[in-house]
Amino acid sequence: MRHAHHGIEAADNMTPTIVARLASPEFLADPYPVYRQLIEQTPVFWLSHANAPGGMWCIVRYDDIAFVLREAPIFKDTSRIAPPDTLTPLDRAMLQRDPPDHARLRRLASHAFTPRRVHNLMPRIEQISLDLIERIRARGEADFIADYARPLPIIVIAELLGVPFEDHDQFSTWSDQIMTGSDSVLGSEEAARQSQQAMASLIDYFTALIRKRRQYPRDDLISALIAARDASDRLSEDELLGMCILLLIAGHETTVNLIGNGLLTLLRYPDQLNLLRQRPEYLTSAIEEMLRYESPVQRSTPRFAAESFVIGGERIEAGQQISLMFGAANRDPAHFSDPDRFDITRQPNPHLGFGMGIHYCLGAPLARIEARVAFTHILERLPAIRLATDTPAWKPVTWLRGLKSLPVIV
Ligand code: HEM
Repeated sequence: MRHAHHGIEAADNMTPTIVARLASPEFLADPYPVYRQLIEQTPVFWLSHANAPGGMWCIVRYDDIAFVLREAPIFKDTSRIAPPDTLTPLDRAMLQRDPPDHARLRRLASHAFTPRRVHNLMPRIEQISLDLIERIRARGEADFIADYARPLPIIVIAELLGVPFEDHDQFSTWSDQIMTGSDSVLGSEEAARQSQQAMASLIDYFTALIRKRRQYPRDDLISALIAARDASDRLSEDELLGMCILLLIAGHETTVNLIGNGLLTLLRYPDQLNLLRQRPEYLTSAIEEMLRYESPVQRSTPRFAAESFVIGGERIEAGQQISLMFGAANRDPAHFSDPDRFDITRQPNPHLGFGMGIHYCLGAPLARIEARVAFTHILERLPAIRLATDTPAWKPVTWLRGLKSLPVIV
């Protein structure tokens, strides 16, 4: 993940108004009118900022994104274009790799990160969730982010990996700093510096933990990944480290935001909340609709053109960076009828909340289980939950979408 600095400039095919709006507080509160305008007027645009030298192409429409992810000549491997001293172990993880290495890494991960391992975690997820919910109930009010949405996924992913419980707070902070520091539109020097420090701390932490687990394996994901490494197909030391860091940060902030954004949206649409209370069988499609309507990942991680190609009337040159605006495509009227309507019964719902193509989210089953547990408990145990503010504060990040806090009364 590259680090961010501030500053965006208008490009020829983009009006300065839209550029200004992309970095505005109104955009954070409600990016969707801007996305709609981009879909209609500038579906492929060049965004120039200090973070990606030379800028990046943003692709807004659903069908264009699908074309890029499935057919266009693109690559992800940052080691092909970035100076070696700027690379981190995260650049060696599957999310920044291309075939055939990508398939190899993903296969090794799925040996360790099995459906059985996820399934076995279920009672633990329920227990953690109930503990948090009961504490909220006893108090009568809560910041649903700090008191529920944040701790649940970090405890789950830390337990899955085999990270000692007492370290989970520290992990949450590091993960947050890395994700916030890598925003290309609203990043700051300070955020970038913190992000680098957090990465260094995570590298030290996991290096030590991997050493311990190699000596004394346990029944956890890190030990399983080490075992996968020691079979005939191996993870290099950097890949193992990168995998741990990727699983931690990919599995944390995103799930926090699915639960937070999902709850906010349900509370903003009481008719849908009531429908869900009466017909809990809609929970599955409701969670998919949350992923579409307020996507935790609004823009993809970077890709690069391997050769030049044309899309939406624009010519992308070899080597240029590309970003796919999942959050916009999920409201593309050409693909979703009445896209600004939150409809928990929507079906089919081929949203891009988990991405598309070979990098489709590896943790989607786990994220869905966590959301299912969370909303089941919220509906059953907090029947009177309501918002304590009309204007919850969004984090100053544009590639992810998540709340700073969500005050509720229960
Ligand atoms: C609601 C929660 C989640 C959301 C919205 C989400 C979203 C995404 C998206 C959009 C991508 C593709 C990024 C791109 O193509 O640029 C992705 C990839 C990935 N996610 Fe998730 N994710 C979530 C939870 C998780 C969890 C819980 C884990 C693991 C514990 C995880 C692990 C991964 C990994 C390893 C990849 C890279 C896959 C690859 O490169 O083949 N994610 N995720």
